[in-house]
Amino acid sequence: MNKLLSEVSSLAKRRGFVFPSSEIYGGLAGVYDYGPLGVELLRNIKALWWKDMVQKREDILGLDGSILMHPKAWEASGHVEGFTDPLVDCKDCKRRIRADQLKDWEVKKNKIGKWEILKKGSLKCPECGGELIPQVRQFNILMETELGVIEDEKQKVYLKGESCQNIYLDYLNVLDSFSPHLPFGIAQIGKAFRNEISFGKFIFKTREFEQYDIEYFTAPQDADKFFEKWKKIRFDWYVNRLGIKKENLRFRQHPESERIFYAKDAWDIEYKYPWGWDELEGIHNRGDYDLVQHAKFSGKKHDYFDQESGKRIVPHIIECSGGVGRTFLAVFLDAFNLQEKDGKKRQVMSFDSKIAPSLVAVFPLVSNKEELTKKAREVYEMLSEKMPCAWDDIGNIGKKYRRQDEAGTPKCVTIDHQTLEDNTVTVRDRDTMKQERVELDKLLSLLNNEVCC
Ligand code: GAP
Repeated sequence: MNKLLSEVSSLAKRRGFVFPSSEIYGGLAGVYDYGPLGVELLRNIKALWWKDMVQKREDILGLDGSILMHPKAWEASGHVEGFTDPLVDCKDCKRRIRADQLKDWEVKKNKIGKWEILKKGSLKCPECGGELIPQVRQFNILMETELGVIEDEKQKVYLKGESCQNIYLDYLNVLDSFSPHLPFGIAQIGKAFRNEISFGKFIFKTREFEQYDIEYFTAPQDADKFFEKWKKIRFDWYVNRLGIKKENLRFRQHPESERIFYAKDAWDIEYKYPWGWDELEGIHNRGDYDLVQHAKFSGKKHDYFDQESGKRIVPHIIECSGGVGRTFLAVFLDAFNLQEKDGKKRQVMSFDSKIAPSLVAVFPLVSNKEELTKKAREVYEMLSEKMPCAWDDIGNIGKKYRRQDEAGTPKCVTIDHQTLEDNTVTVRDRDTMKQERVELDKLLSLLNNEVCC
């Protein structure tokens, strides 16, 4: 693993952000758990997305759809037929290797979604040096499960291969219940499952993950205009709201050879991960493909009565589909700082206050003085009513600061002997490490000004 990625993943584990799943049983490749600090960061990222993309926008309606859906949905969407990775088998070690990741090989999906070999490279297995079978197999990455209890009557269903499918399936329900005017969007944060086979970049590619999706329905003639608008909204969100450095983000347009046949245009917002530029979010102009397919397979019209023209039209869809875990990783990498001063190392997570797991940490200077602990508890209880607040009474003050730096807590408040005399506390800033003495009755307004949003 890349050095930076390995430092970041070990900090993530040590500080309780991300754990490998089922570690006591040897782990499960491509599956992770978010620990006590990770769950706060993850929830803050999702809450900010929901606030900005749904609650603050009158043109977007929210949804929380089920993971299990009628299996026909996945036939209509094209996933049963075409949601595949190209696999090559090794005769010797029996491993399955992705042909698109083999050196000197070139593979491409054709118009009907099947992988074809354009150029066959070395037939030497990169894992064991054995011989590869020179054919590519279409490996469907949808995960299956079964519904029902009677053995012969069980129904095969799929776990969501992409979270957004609920939005298409509930499109008619939303029209009936809300009669939204075009253009309008339906947004959802939900889990998706894929039988991925290559891992090794921490939480970048996992088998179970969350996506945040906006499907924006427009009149066909307006689709290009809204496509450009959404590209800008989503790019700016990462910079201005999550605080990701602009120079670490860029757009990449899919060349026609990479674009799925129904997409009119497709761009990725990419982040500069330690291994190079890679996908963070996809923004696609999907045309009328999804509504037409679900209309065909369900037998129900999926059109829209356009009052302006007095005609029935099938709206086109602009999709913004981002990975929550990938955003977490980008935020985590971007916030990671390794500082060295006077031979001392300091790891700091400079999270934006809008998403930091805690905004302030409170501790007594030492833990064996009852009156200090009592006063610190009072301060903690007062602050934790108002903002996410951490408590720490383990170890010396230097260790407490280091722990909060790694947790990304913007401010630390220390209660010491002077507090008992004059009701002042020390407030220490995470990024500058500067300390100031603040009167307790001015503490809340200082924190409100400097870290609350
Ligand atoms: N509905 C469109 C769709 O699912 P996608 O490009 O396959 O498009 C959208 O996925 C986003 O979901 C990606 O940009 C990425 O951030 C995230 N994603 C996709 N596969 C993932 C995986 N195996 N692990 C983690 N995130 C993934």
